[in-house]
Amino acid sequence: MTLENACLVDLPHVQDERGSLSFIEAEKHIPFEIRRVYYLYGVMPGASRGAHAHKELQQLMVALAGSLDVELDDGHRKLTFHLTNPTQGLYVPSGLWRDLRNFTPDAVCLVLASMHYSEDDYYRDYQDYLSVARSKG
Ligand code: TYD
Repeated sequence: MTLENACLVDLPHVQDERGSLSFIEAEKHIPFEIRRVYYLYGVMPGASRGAHAHKELQQLMVALAGSLDVELDDGHRKLTFHLTNPTQGLYVPSGLWRDLRNFTPDAVCLVLASMHYSEDDYYRDYQDYLSVARSKG
């Protein structure tokens, strides 16, 4: 996959006098079935997360509170997305290296994932990742 396959997705939101509500329906707002949900929070100042790529896993990342930067890398190019709005998600297809940085102290990042956790699905070494990504063109 290349960076062109990553995109920001506008999520439905319903606002009334009580406040706001957003929702995400699998295979409608995102192109995969949701097999796992996790969330990142309480990230220490200056700490980064991610630093890996997935072989098959697809994800949607949403900053439910606060903000963070997600840098995506397809082995040729890098692009940074600033997530700050709970009505917008970042669709991350398989095969992209990601680094998550600049979390505000209140940041809560929701991640919807297409597969159960499997360490076999990870590239955790950047040089290994680069040689695979570049060999695919
Ligand atoms: P890690 O991949 O380092 O997190 P991040 O991508 O945010 O930097 O995962 C940290 C630990 O949590 C690691 O031991 C694997 C475990 N983990 C699970 O058991 N299940 C999960 O769904 C996730 C995302 C991680």
